[in-house]
Amino acid sequence: MTKNYVETHLLGHRVDFYPEFIDEKTHQELLKILKGMKVFPTNAQDLQFYNTTYEHIGESEPLDPELGCTSRYLVPNAARTLCILPNRFDLAKHFMTYGGIDGLKENFEMLASRMQSFGRYIFDIKDYPVMENLFYSEEFIRSAKKICPINKQVLDPFQFHFIIQIPGQTLPVHLDAQYLEHATRFQYPTWLPVVMAGSGIYQDNVIDQVQGVAYLHEWNDTSLGGHLSIYNKDNNNPDYEIPYPRGVGLMDGAKTMHASTVFRPNDHLPILPKNAKNELVYQEDDDIWELRSDDKVLNKYQTTDFRITLVYRSRCFESEEKRQRFLKWHKSGENVRPVEVVLDELKTELVKKYGYNRESLDSISKIDLANALTDTFLKYPLPTNAIIPLNYCALPVIFPSTQIIFDWIC
Ligand SMILES: [Fe+2]
Repeated sequence: MTKNYVETHLLGHRVDFYPEFIDEKTHQELLKILKGMKVFPTNAQDLQFYNTTYEHIGESEPLDPELGCTSRYLVPNAARTLCILPNRFDLAKHFMTYGGIDGLKENFEMLASRMQSFGRYIFDIKDYPVMENLFYSEEFIRSAKKICPINKQVLDPFQFHFIIQIPGQTLPVHLDAQYLEHATRFQYPTWLPVVMAGSGIYQDNVIDQVQGVAYLHEWNDTSLGGHLSIYNKDNNNPDYEIPYPRGVGLMDGAKTMHASTVFRPNDHLPILPKNAKNELVYQEDDDIWELRSDDKVLNKYQTTDFRITLVYRSRCFESEEKRQRFLKWHKSGENVRPVEVVLDELKTELVKKYGYNRESLDSISKIDLANALTDTFLKYPLPTNAIIPLNYCALPVIFPSTQIIFDWIC
């Protein structure tokens, strides 16, 4: 029953781990910057940090000011005017259906809370000299070039991302946001370029990248979980990386599927409703963090309670000229291919290679189309440690009539 092995073009890519890659002084400076940012929304609200030409593929519904998003699949958009598929709808659906790499059997609300880690994106690297130093250190450049293809050795640093997991949270299996020459998260919902790359029809347009994942928490206890899991083998079994503080893992996360085990799995995790404004807010006077949901305090944490990572990314280009050509287009915000054109190309591939019926694809809802695209082009691995890999506890969300049965066992 546990099939769904990772496609071969996503296997065998280089992954390196460097212990104590970041010095103690830099570590402390980064933690200071983190605290100085004060407010960390959940990753479900990451559109606060950038704009997207097409926020959705046509599935949107107006947001009900009283009830929020009533469709079980949709969440509020950044402006809280529409309900749209979550930006990482691909990984959320897989996590809900199979319960992640731990094969969890939990209801929708608990799983949604487990995957809503907290984060902030920084695209203006120049504002933070300590981060610039990280990117331009000889050590990082040398290590990053080992991850970039041999013919693409021009690095293009483009993003920092702080991620905080509170006890009980986890990272579902996923591929990172994909950059294609004419399609990124700035033009389309983040899941769509990931699907485009997975389809294989844009192979020549994929931009390789390298990400460093630096661990910024200060605990060193391997029994707390939160281990990075990397799917690089032709079965569903991952390799694990222990998140030692100041260590950095390097890989192209858009080419290698990865996840994390649950961090402090036995701790209490408050429910974070999907329609609420959920955030972590730092209180400088007491040096503590408040977990707030629609401004109501649900819990309080010390910084040492968290699993904290800093992800920093560079793109890999063949030449300076190709890098400049991409940046010029990317900054211009022009010549964005209409989302319908992209969907049309993907539908054509579904028909040609996977036997779908064109008329059906044209008539189904956009939510159903998104499901068909992710099911076909993004096959995330299934949990191996569960006898039944399916998370039957979330089935009532898909089939509400089963609620009464699963309330007894979940
Ligand atoms: Fe990732």
